[in-house]
Amino acid sequence: MIKDTSTDALKQYFIQTIGHKPELICHAPGRVNLMGDHTDYNNGFVLPIAIDFGTDIAASLRDDRLVRVIALDIDQNENIFSLDDIIFDPENTWSNYVRGTIIALMQTYPDIKGADLVVSGNVPQGAGLSSSASFEIAILSTFSQLNQLSMSGVEAALKGQQAENEFVGCNCGIMDQLISALGRKEQVMLLDCHDLSLQYASLPKNLSVLIINSNVKRGLVDSEYNTRREQCEAAAKYCGKNNLREVTLNELGAVKSTIEPILYQRARHVITENNRTLAMFTAVHNQDLAAISQLMADSHQSLKNDFAVTTYETDTLVAMLAQFLGEQGGARMTGGGFGGCVVVLADELLIDAAIDVVLSQYQQKTGLVPDIYRCSAVNGAFVDS
Ligand code: GLA
Repeated sequence: MIKDTSTDALKQYFIQTIGHKPELICHAPGRVNLMGDHTDYNNGFVLPIAIDFGTDIAASLRDDRLVRVIALDIDQNENIFSLDDIIFDPENTWSNYVRGTIIALMQTYPDIKGADLVVSGNVPQGAGLSSSASFEIAILSTFSQLNQLSMSGVEAALKGQQAENEFVGCNCGIMDQLISALGRKEQVMLLDCHDLSLQYASLPKNLSVLIINSNVKRGLVDSEYNTRREQCEAAAKYCGKNNLREVTLNELGAVKSTIEPILYQRARHVITENNRTLAMFTAVHNQDLAAISQLMADSHQSLKNDFAVTTYETDTLVAMLAQFLGEQGGARMTGGGFGGCVVVLADELLIDAAIDVVLSQYQQKTGLVPDIYRCSAVNGAFVDS
């Protein structure tokens, strides 16, 4: 179930607990990726949208150097720390997203002031829809506005990523934070993770985005994720390159007989996925549903067979949806994998029936009840609406 976050309730709660009105309320969205998974940390291409589920923060500056943050959704759990002594909190792990983000922020802006913050969000957690990136970007947007910093969306994304990599301990790429900062309403973003250049294309009006949460408890996500990353780095090194973005399929083919088979497969996924992401951007731009359908099917197979990050449940969802949609839409796993969500991009007229297909077959085949979210593409936190 998605919680209905009302910023009025957030504001009221802030007044009750902090004792005055918040100076501002900031919002940062979660994301769903339409194409290009496990490519960002290989300097490749990704094609996400920011979604209409996100994190809200009600905030006011304080006169001292304390940060007091209350997580409305985690039993109103309260955490206080000083800007002059930020350490990892092993008990209230949620607070490390705030702590790590502020450490990264203070490397550039050491003079920020303390703040009172009340946080609430409706991105399903652990589903692969970037609840943590939306939290980080919401924090950065909040501190940027409270302290009148002229921080850009790209700068914020890099700081959010730095918090994950250096403080929280997940070696993620830049996609999630960047789309949360700079997504655009009704548009997909083509991000080149090599130089962080961006292009946007309008989502065709007759197409809808549907997200289906397999509700598989994602296990081993961080450790397996970090292993995939190491394998990609090892494959690039074997080919004599800095990263897989620099390796062509021909160059990979030339080392096929000597490279470890698993490294060959990991690299083949990344190289072909980069090509599919560029092709998908063109297909969305041209409203070419048959191409979208084929590209999403190919991507899922590659994530399954070469990258080994799908599960029986996400494979089952994709198979039943692909069979139903034919050339009128596509389905693939999205995000890091190991459970999590499947994304569908399909003709709006088929969405209700696609939901019926999932509701009538998924539980029977897997014993799990799916959660289903209809989504639209929205502005990121650093885009003026
Ligand atoms: C997670 C990471 C991203 C990206 C995806 C896979 O969401 O946070 O950086 O690597 O997995 O595409």
